[in-house]
Amino acid sequence: MSLSLPHVASYTRELPISLTRMYENAIDGEHLPWLHRTSFSHLEIIDKGSWGWRAKGNFVPKSFMNSMELELRLDREKNCWITRTTAGLGKGTEIWTHAFELEENKIKIVVDFYIPKLPNFLKNLYAEKLVQTYAQLYDEDLWMMATRQNELDRIKLGESIEPFESIELGLLVEIEKELPLTFSFNNNPYKLVKLDKKLLAFSATCPHMLGPLQDCDIDQGIVECPWHGYKFDVKSRKCISGARCKLAPAPRITIDDESGIITALT
Ligand code: FES
Ligand SMILES: [Fe+2]
Repeated sequence: MSLSLPHVASYTRELPISLTRMYENAIDGEHLPWLHRTSFSHLEIIDKGSWGWRAKGNFVPKSFMNSMELELRLDREKNCWITRTTAGLGKGTEIWTHAFELEENKIKIVVDFYIPKLPNFLKNLYAEKLVQTYAQLYDEDLWMMATRQNELDRIKLGESIEPFESIELGLLVEIEKELPLTFSFNNNPYKLVKLDKKLLAFSATCPHMLGPLQDCDIDQGIVECPWHGYKFDVKSRKCISGARCKLAPAPRITIDDESGIITALT
């Protein structure tokens, strides 16, 4: 706990995820302006490591009044991470989060908010806003952490499954009405789209941290991951945001001239 700042509020919540997922989320500053786009309009990571991260950016709405610099430091031994506002809006604020493992895949977090001395009415408003914001941030984080865990479990399970060489997806006339559509092949999700008048499948799992691409719009052959905003060219599979990751290979799609049946093949 902070020794020098007034404690103004707490937020406590149980989360059905592991401590590993929680720590991973805490030191991942990059997701803030994407997953939490309604709270952060922009955030640039200045430094990062297994210790945490430092960043500068803006809260929503973006304006010079809403700019800030943040630092998050994780102390695994104390099951705690501290987020400090080091400059800009809310300078001096410290948010201490302790995480307790209740059972496998179940933790409890206790968040304590400390803010520099403010007039009472402002202090209460700010504290209320912080608690509200954290409730929303954790709703969004929980979706990401739980989805990622499901994806990791799915991949593990897939390793023990005998792979198929092909599956029939259906009739062209029917499938065309449903595009873009998601299908599963060898326990992996793919999305089937029409690009340059041709059917094409691409992996619907982001290669960065397994973000879900199923529900993302495809704009001129580009898909953008909702978790960290990496963009991928679905044809070449390359990340056009500069990251070294690439979409996993997808099955080839063929159409039988006579029957009109669409098949996905390894
Ligand atoms: S999981 Fe990070 S960009 Fe997709
Ligand atoms: Fe988050």
